[in-house]
Amino acid sequence: MRVPFAHVDVENRVLSDRLTQRFRTVLDSGFFINGPEAARFERRFAALHQTRHAVAVNSGTDALRLALRALGVPRGSTGITVANTFVASVGAMISEGVRPLLVDVGDDENMDPDRLRAAFTPDTGVVIAVHLRGWPARADLIRDLCAERGIPLVEDCAQAVGATLAGRPVGTFGAVGCFSLHPLKNLGACGDAGLIVTDDDALAEQLRLLRNHGLADRDTVVQWGENSRLDDMQAALLDVKLDHLPEWTRRRVDLAERYRKGLAGLPLVLPPLDDDRTHVYHRFSIRTPHREELRAHLAAAGVETAVHYPVPIHRQPAAAGGGLAVAHGGLPVTERQSTEILSLPLHPAVTEEQLDHVVDHVDAFFRTRSPQHTL
Ligand SMILES: Cc1ncc(COP(=O)(O)O)c(C=O)c1O
Repeated sequence: MRVPFAHVDVENRVLSDRLTQRFRTVLDSGFFINGPEAARFERRFAALHQTRHAVAVNSGTDALRLALRALGVPRGSTGITVANTFVASVGAMISEGVRPLLVDVGDDENMDPDRLRAAFTPDTGVVIAVHLRGWPARADLIRDLCAERGIPLVEDCAQAVGATLAGRPVGTFGAVGCFSLHPLKNLGACGDAGLIVTDDDALAEQLRLLRNHGLADRDTVVQWGENSRLDDMQAALLDVKLDHLPEWTRRRVDLAERYRKGLAGLPLVLPPLDDDRTHVYHRFSIRTPHREELRAHLAAAGVETAVHYPVPIHRQPAAAGGGLAVAHGGLPVTERQSTEILSLPLHPAVTEEQLDHVVDHVDAFFRTRSPQHTL
């Protein structure tokens, strides 16, 4: 049996009639960029997060970059984040002239608040907390640490739309919450798209100017900006998909529960779980020191897996030229986890049969191995 890792085309096929109808409406309207569909999607996304504003932009990367600029994070200051994330969390800082300082993560693979506390210096200009794989970082603790020092917190929610901490959606703890709506995300467009939520009126106004050349109206440039607007075709598709997000998230959670039951008792670390946080399982990532052998075993059984991320940012070739720093004490947890993490297939289109096939083969891998294959 073949179990593909991702299946983005399925959602679009299921929604084909509704999408075609909405695309036709956009075509007939003649509004293609930052038009009524984009505005409608922004309103709905803000309502979902109970924030005063949602500002749609061209990508999750732009959401982060423009957030740093709107917050006035000084060029030359230090931005604290983690090394086990998609490169954009760090790249956005670099492109805005902010010097990344990478801190270690905890057992839950997200920023360790204690490591953050120890990393602040007078040069710190911003903190970007990443909610990796759909599991909320401790944004409440991180927000308090930032607030005590007057440092803005940016939440990178690219992988965590709909995840909650203490009953509140991620993205609502910091000054801004930045989302990616890339096709592979839990709420995915059919191209690049991103969005920023905030309760701050002035910040939202800044972001709206920055994404549209600083234009206050058609002919008046009140400051320098750039082009980072959302297409109405993408917004129309996202609006249709937003109706299905709760059911798709439930499906992800149900599948994750089935994985947990099936894999219980095996010498693996399963994704984190606690009473205060809800996981939306952008990825279902396990840990084992025997990652490479397990991966090969699963591949032979037709199961596609992936590693998010095999090379922490500070080990990337681009980092060899300098430009970023690692916090005192290094990143031993990040480094160890990067050799052990393995993402198993999990998306709404995975069937129970496919999932059980994965479980059976993980189980077989450990049962047929010698006793040394333990944690
Ligand atoms: C954690 C994280 N941050 C930022 C981004 C950047 O988003 P985008 O690809 O939409 O620019 C992504 C997605 O790829 C991501 O996973």
